[in-house]
Amino acid sequence: MSQDADYKLLVETDKGKPGGELLRRYWQPVALVSDLGKRPLSIMVMGEELVLFRDDKGKVGLVGRYCPHRSVDLSYGRIEDGGLRCLYHGWLFDVKGRCLEQPAEPVDSKYKDEIRHTAYPCREAAGTIFAYMGPGEAPLFPNFHFLSAPDAYVYQTKIHHACNYLQANEGNIDPAHLSFLHSFRKPLQERSEQAQKLQNVLIQNTRPKVGIERTRYGIRIFAKRAAEAGKNYVRVTNFVFPNLGFFAGDGGQRGTGGYSVHWHVPINDESHWRYDFYYHRSEPLDKADLDAKQNAEADATYHPHRTPENRYLQDPEEMEKFSFAGMGRNFPSHDLFAVQSPGAIHDRSREHLATTDIAIVAMRRMMLDAMKGLEEGKEPPLVIRSPNENVFNDIIVMGALLDETQDQNAYCEDIIRSGDFHAMKV
Ligand code: FES
Ligand SMILES: [Fe+2]
Repeated sequence: MSQDADYKLLVETDKGKPGGELLRRYWQPVALVSDLGKRPLSIMVMGEELVLFRDDKGKVGLVGRYCPHRSVDLSYGRIEDGGLRCLYHGWLFDVKGRCLEQPAEPVDSKYKDEIRHTAYPCREAAGTIFAYMGPGEAPLFPNFHFLSAPDAYVYQTKIHHACNYLQANEGNIDPAHLSFLHSFRKPLQERSEQAQKLQNVLIQNTRPKVGIERTRYGIRIFAKRAAEAGKNYVRVTNFVFPNLGFFAGDGGQRGTGGYSVHWHVPINDESHWRYDFYYHRSEPLDKADLDAKQNAEADATYHPHRTPENRYLQDPEEMEKFSFAGMGRNFPSHDLFAVQSPGAIHDRSREHLATTDIAIVAMRRMMLDAMKGLEEGKEPPLVIRSPNENVFNDIIVMGALLDETQDQNAYCEDIIRSGDFHAMKV
């Protein structure tokens, strides 16, 4: 198959497309819990028009947007009597898509039992609603540490992206850009001395040695930069199959012991929601601070203030005096610019990939192999079916100063064996 055909496969996520079928084999975030009030919510996920609602018993349902009777929009419906009732003729649907009532049909009609509306199972975790939109039995819900953490230790938000999900996911696993896009000319006041020291390493050593290791969950990515005498600054980032990035840093919160996750969920092929989770292993996060950062960059509907129309509010004076990009201090806003600016669907035939793009190449290969496998009836990676697979102590996320003589892979293996996650200095 040609490279162009491969690129097409990688970005298409509608139902029936190989990429769409692949993403549908996993639990995916579809809304924040706070998005869903008393009224049904119309949403689009991977090109499917859906309605999310919470029934009068508190159960969350995700069903097709158009009523199976004569296609009236169910997002205007009434929540009552254990389901969602269509406004047109009163058909009532539960969270499983069963038709409970057809009040205009004869009393003894059994027709309602023949109707099965599109419905996907939902779960709530870490302030987020997840759905399984694939065929067959849903896999186990992934037991990532941040999804089972106490509420105080995890913060969740999202930001709208006017571009395909894959190019944003590629940004997560590109460790070279830290030395440029997110760098500052002056120390940030809120940073600790150690954090500033590490930031200086990123600025002074712009040529990381990037290495990858394929794992059962995806790809572990090492970026090594020479730091002070005898030490290397090693950052370990992860591509977690099929659309997550785990990387060091907890939104500028505690400095050590936390990490962030970006989870990119297509709305359609030209836009997506990036769900962000900030997580700390042992300390509560300052959520008011994280809220303030979010509110400074996006409106109440999670759409960013910085857009192509206002040129991402880039400030030339700031570029002179403070930051490399001139787009403020919020990393997600810098990333938004970087991943949207190639266009809604990045034309990869224009690329000239370099040595630091090794993880991107490996990720695309892994996705394409999984699509092919799926067509041949093989279960893709990380579809979790047994509790012993559902333990994620092997996702090592860190940024640490290691002795030059220390082997970075062995260092990670030691952490996995010991379960001492506090050795993952961030
Ligand atoms: S269109 Fe929904 S009940 Fe008739
Ligand atoms: Fe970034």
